[in-house]
Amino acid sequence: MTRKSPNAETARVVPSVMTLRRTLLAAGAASTMAALVPGAVRAAASADAAGVLSPSGRTIVIFFSRTDHTATLAERAAQKLGCELLRLELREPYASDYGDMTDIAREEKRSGKRREIATAIPDLAAYDTVYLGSPYWWGGISVPVMTFLADHPLAGKRVKPFVVSASSGPSGAWADLRKACPEAKLEEGFHTTESSLEGSLDEFDAWLAK
Ligand SMILES: Cc1cc2nc3c(=O)[nH]c(=O)nc-3n(C[C@H](O)[C@H](O)[C@H](O)COP(=O)(O)O)c2cc1C
Repeated sequence: MTRKSPNAETARVVPSVMTLRRTLLAAGAASTMAALVPGAVRAAASADAAGVLSPSGRTIVIFFSRTDHTATLAERAAQKLGCELLRLELREPYASDYGDMTDIAREEKRSGKRREIATAIPDLAAYDTVYLGSPYWWGGISVPVMTFLADHPLAGKRVKPFVVSASSGPSGAWADLRKACPEAKLEEGFHTTESSLEGSLDEFDAWLAK
């Protein structure tokens, strides 16, 4: 694991559906607005004039991110898919000291402890596909995402996971997901590292379209 400079949990506030709507409006992508309205169903199969993909069935991007690398991918996914975006925020943020924080998270991961989520989770019965984003923590999926999955194991849903690490390969993350959501239709995941993130965006877009 590579250590990086301490950072606060408060780094960036949830890019809500409304924020995304404003972003798309500013980009002149008015044709995507229907997809941002809760309850909207996308039925078409190809990208529209603004390059927004049209996944079949209702889709949501759900993610946790501490230092916003995973958030970068999550926001891009929601924009490209024209779907809703849900950021998992913590009830009790981690210690701001990076060393303390990673020690706490390591112990949580080791013992299977929870880190409670403050974000209100919508009724997931309404969604067919969940794009699930997590940083890679101590050999697997981050504790907040594991906590979310303990409460919402996504049974029967198509789940497309994406993970950002500092340097590790992602196999531990996929193993965690197979255990945490055994009845989900788990698809091939996307992994990148922080340093390759910018250079992997085309690959990410291609993965989104699969
Ligand atoms: C508690 C903790 C554990 C981590 N464990 C690993 C690890 O095992 N392997 C690795 O390559 N990176 C590890 N990292 C680094 C993160 O995966 C990396 O910084 C990632 O980009 C963070 O994503 P985020 O910016 O979306 O929070 C860890 C980071 C934290 C905070």
